[in-house]
Formats: sequence, C-alpha cells, structure tokens
Amino acid sequence: MKKEATNRLAVDIRPTRKIVSSFGDVQESNLISILQELQDEYGYLPKAALKEVSRLMDVPLTRVFGIVTFYSQFSLVPKGKFTIKVCIGTACHVRGAEEVKTTIKQLLDVKEGETSADYMFTLESVACLGVCALGPVMVVGSSKKAAGCCDGQDGQTPPSGDKSYGHVKTEKIEGILESYSSDKE
Ligand code: FES
Repeated sequence: MKKEATNRLAVDIRPTRKIVSSFGDVQESNLISILQELQDEYGYLPKAALKEVSRLMDVPLTRVFGIVTFYSQFSLVPKGKFTIKVCIGTACHVRGAEEVKTTIKQLLDVKEGETSADYMFTLESVACLGVCALGPVMVVGSSKKAAGCCDGQDGQTPPSGDKSYGHVKTEKIEGILESYSSDKE
C-alpha cells in the first residue's frame, strides 16, 4: 500500500514559462520568489520546471538545485493533494500529538514526510501554531499553497483556506480524513 511519491505525471511546462515571464526582465535575485510561485503552482518543484527555469534565466541548473535543496520549504517530490500538519509543540505533545500522528500514519500507511498511495495526503509535523490551549492541533490544507497557521477555532476554516482541528481525538481522525474523500479526482 505504502509507496514513495515519484514524478509519475507528465509536467505541463507552460505555467513555468508564464511565472518566469511575469517577473519581466528576470534576474537571479528573483530566483527564490519564482521557485516559491512554482511550488504553489505544482505543489512541488518538478525537475522539468527547474530545467526550464535554468534555461530561461540563464542560471546554472546546479545553482537552481542548490537553492531548492537548501531551503526546507521546497520539495522535489510530489505531495498529496492535501498536507496534514500535526503540531508537535510542547503543549500539543503533552496532550497527545504523538498519538495523533501515529494514528494518521497507521490510517494512511505512511511515515512522516511521506505521501499516501492515492496522493491525497502528505503528513508533516509543524512547530507550535500559537493555539496551544486547543492542543493537540492539526491543520489540513491544499499542498498547492503552503499550509499556514490555524485561527484557533476547532474545525473552522481560516482565511488561508486551510482547515484547523483542535482538541483532536484519535477516534475522530478517520472521519476527518474521509471528509476529504469527495475531493478525490
Ligand atoms: S504547541 Fe501546538 S499549538 Fe502550541
């Protein structure tokens, strides 16, 4: 069931060209911003897109990969449609964050950082989200846009579009994940 996410899909390079051209007379100082926009567009950084960036910007591919591998915000492998971020801050930890994570791992048959076989979910940990009283907390958001912090309300949708869940009980997690099944393509 479990498998590593791989570059299995053909990559449409047109968005890459559009993003690079939107920066006008592109300069290497724009490279990180361009990579951020590409990651938002694709949900990760396909190698074909990075090669195109290198070509269009006349920046060595090794330099592009150097930046991508240096910053943890960038991913070279496809993520699931949604990213689940489980808070592992101290307050959430003492309130059962590990049990929450273990339950998600078992349900999705993944390890931390991995993507489920159906490419629906990627599991990650995150530091304190600032709503410790609601611990344990997890946030589910689109992988095509960085999952941000929660708004402190159990199950409400924050302005970013991510959904936060507070006081997460392990027996409720399966139902939470199933609520996203209608988003399967
Ligand atoms: S420790 Fe989890 S929100 Fe603060």
